[in-house]
Amino acid sequence: MQLITDKQGLTGTIQVPGDKSISHRSIMFGALAEGTTTVTNFLHGEDCLSTIEVFRALGVEIEDSPDKIVVHGKGWDGLQKPTGILDVGNSGTTIRLMLGILAGRPFDATIKGDASIAKRPMGRVMSPLREMGAIFEAKEANFAPVKVTGAKLEPMEYTLPVASAQVKSAIIFAALQADGETTIIEKEKTRDHTEQMIRQFGGEIDVTDLTIRVTGGQRFVGQEVVVPGDISSAAFFIVAGLIVPGSKIRLENVGINPTRTGIIDVVKAMGGKITVEEIHAVGDEAAGTITVETSDLVGTEIGGDIIPRLIDELPVIALLASQAKGQTVIKDAAELKVKETNRIDAVVAELSKLGVQITGTDDGMIIEGHQKLHGGKVKSYGDHRMGMMLQIAALLADSDVELENAEAIKVSYPTFFEDVRSLY
Ligand code: S3P
Repeated sequence: MQLITDKQGLTGTIQVPGDKSISHRSIMFGALAEGTTTVTNFLHGEDCLSTIEVFRALGVEIEDSPDKIVVHGKGWDGLQKPTGILDVGNSGTTIRLMLGILAGRPFDATIKGDASIAKRPMGRVMSPLREMGAIFEAKEANFAPVKVTGAKLEPMEYTLPVASAQVKSAIIFAALQADGETTIIEKEKTRDHTEQMIRQFGGEIDVTDLTIRVTGGQRFVGQEVVVPGDISSAAFFIVAGLIVPGSKIRLENVGINPTRTGIIDVVKAMGGKITVEEIHAVGDEAAGTITVETSDLVGTEIGGDIIPRLIDELPVIALLASQAKGQTVIKDAAELKVKETNRIDAVVAELSKLGVQITGTDDGMIIEGHQKLHGGKVKSYGDHRMGMMLQIAALLADSDVELENAEAIKVSYPTFFEDVRSLY
């Protein structure tokens, strides 16, 4: 696909689609709860639709219309043995959290995904769940497809070796089915939407700093969930507004859960003009209006415990850094290698093709500033965030940019290209 290139003066207001992490969890808790759950501003991206299909295959009735999703939950025991293989498509969140849910159900199920999922590590989830008594059979030990044989789960104490909300959430779902209290200690604070939603659905979870305690045998009650806009989707327009000359972009109703707002801190540290106003509660989460304007930026160092708070935004932050004065160093971000694609290699390869001086390291990237971008042929690697980052890069390119596999963006932001067009 030919990308939109050489634009100036992007102005306008965008309502980014619903948060992907919260949309997934709204279906999961809705299915496990007793009674009806309605979800508004649900993200109709391919990943979240995969979660709906997985629960339908487990016997849960879910009505899907453009303005709302209705989940008819029948409690934990409402899940039934599926007739076929459960397919998560490209969704890492779906497969990892489902392993925690399925581990304690009294039936067998096999779960698989696309070619990217087949390469992503599942051992990080299966290993702690096995300590709780879960039974898995997986291809080459640690990769999908995974056959789950439902088992009786025991509580445990577990210190997470990686900062991952997916691993943490899978253990929480297993702990909710175990007999007793499980303690999970995080390495660094990661997104806490699972913990928030347990409370919203009438359950209990204790979080003290990095220690989480959760007791099994809890029952949940159907709720009305309103999903805030996804800051990880807003990130593409935050960066566009800062680097495209003469721009001012307003992003309404963006989720600003503090475990997700690392990009705002980085933009401020780089001297970017960014404001967050009209802060309001959206269910148990917070949202606000983010406004950005073209800014003179300076390079920075990004590492340490901010990384989990902006992990999905790092590809587009690398682009942002290429327009700042001086060098930017991203470190402590080896997790980028196990995302939808290896995002260190992919960002370095594709931004280099457009003229950016960027070097990959073992745990991040080093990006030179004040780079002029030119045209070229780039690829998304089937990774939605790579595709969207490259479209924002193309806005600065002085000649044609052709993107291979642009459809990948449908995973999290089906209307992305329309929203870019609405700004000029
Ligand atoms: C997610 C957690 C993160 C993130 C992913 C969504 C979630 O993954 O990258 O896009 O919804 O829990 P990790 O937990 O593997 O870091």
